This record gives sequence, structure tokens and C-alpha cells, in this order.
Amino acid sequence: MSRIVAISNVAGGTGKTTSAHALAVACAEYGKRVLLLDLDVATALTFQLGLENERTTLAHYLQGAPLSESQILTVSERFDFIASDSRISSLIDIGTVKHFCETLPKDYDLILLDTPSTLDPRLLMAIESAEMVVIPISSSLHSIRGANQVRKLATKNSIFGIKIQINSDSNMWDETFEYLDASIPYSDLVDSSLMNSTSVITQNNRSEIAAAYREAAYSLLEKMELI
Ligand SMILES: Nc1ncnc2c1ncn2[C@@H]1O[C@H](COP(=O)(O)OP(=O)(O)OP(=O)(O)O)[C@@H](O)[C@H]1O
Ligand SMILES: [Mg+2]
Repeated sequence: MSRIVAISNVAGGTGKTTSAHALAVACAEYGKRVLLLDLDVATALTFQLGLENERTTLAHYLQGAPLSESQILTVSERFDFIASDSRISSLIDIGTVKHFCETLPKDYDLILLDTPSTLDPRLLMAIESAEMVVIPISSSLHSIRGANQVRKLATKNSIFGIKIQINSDSNMWDETFEYLDASIPYSDLVDSSLMNSTSVITQNNRSEIAAAYREAAYSLLEKMELI
């Protein structure tokens, strides 16, 4: 059965989408079969991958439209993706995502879920379906507060922070969290990768941030005993 990990922080702009995308690429590099799902109503990940105009989206499939293997996209970065759209917001059954992941027409080692920055049903569905929640955390109080809100929701999940030096080179981390064994540096490559519809790893595969995301992915796979 596919193992599910939600990338969540209730605070906005903490590096969830950047991390979900880079972790998917890095886990695929380690030979894992990865599916990435965009559960954010803002669909930033779908936009980032240049897949905004798909006729049938995750919203349809979650509402019961049949999904065949040929409708799942394998992107050039070697992970699978199902394009999303904002209609996902109408879903309220907490078990929907879990059921969807359990009945996919393809097998995956890992399903990564990018989640919204608000306390809405998509976040709750993601946490309900995931065994692990990875929380991108910077040293800002804003991101620590959001991380703590996730921790209160994710009572049945294992939880690991991922240290992101998003807005300063401060090295102050909330030590009440356990972290993946990596620290993601600040990098201008994040913004330039957005322009090119790639992850930061593909943007510059020998960069410091690419190496850091590979370490984070390795640590994640180790914690899940998938490597
Ligand atoms: N390592 C980094 N170095 C520099 N800037 C970064 C880094 N990670 C993220 N950012 C910046 O932060 C912005 C937000 O990142 P991202 O979209 O991944 O966060 P998010 O938590 O998914 O946001 P949202 O809450 O809107 O979904 C990016 O556009 C980028 O400008
Ligand atoms: Mg996002």
C-alpha cells in the first residue's frame, strides 16, 4: 500500500509547495515511485507545473469520476501528478483523500500531499489520510505558530519539521519539534525555478539547495523505512 505524507503548515508562505515539489523530485531520484497531489485551493503547484488547463482534475476524481492509469501524468521530473483545480473546496468528507489514495490504478511507494495554508477540509483530509506530516518551519514566529496549529490537528501522525531558511540566515529553531536531517538554505533559485516550471533541484541540480532537499528526502525515506 502507498505511504502518504502531508506537507503542511497553517501559516502561509512557509515553503510547503517548494518543498513538496523538491521532495517529490528527490525521492524519484532515489528510485521511489512518487505521486504528488495538489490539495491547495490556490493550486500553486498545478500552476507551477504548467498544468492548469487539464479538463479533468483531481476535484473530479475525488468526487468519484473514474481514473485510469493513462490519465495520471508522469512529468519530466519523473514523478506522477494529477492536475488540480479550486473546485476541490466543495469536498467535505474527511475520508475522501484516503479512499482515493487506496484505490488508485497504479502503485506508489510514496504519495506526497501539498496542502493549503488555512484550516479547511482539504488540510483535514490530508492529515487524516497521511501517516506522517512534514512541516516546513522557518525561524519566524508566524511559521512556528502555524506549525503548532498543525501539531494540534495531527494527533495520530508522526511529525517532522523541515528547517527552511526562508527569510533570514537565523539559526534559531523551535526545539520542541523533531526535524528531518537537513536544513534548506535561502536561495534565489526558488523564484527562478517558478519561472521555469521546475523544482529547485532541476533548476540547478548541483546547487546547495538541491543537495539540501536530497538530504531531506533521504532522511524522510529513512524515517519511513523506505530506504
Ligand atoms: N529556500 C528558499 N529560499 C528563498 N525563498 C524561498 C525558499 N523557499 C520558499 N521561498 C519563497 O517563499 C515563497 C513561498 O514559498 P512556497 O510557495 O513554497 O510556500 P507555501 O507554504 O506553499 O505558500 P502558500 O501558503 O501560499 O501555499 C516562494 O515563492 C519563495 O519566494
Ligand atoms: Mg503552497
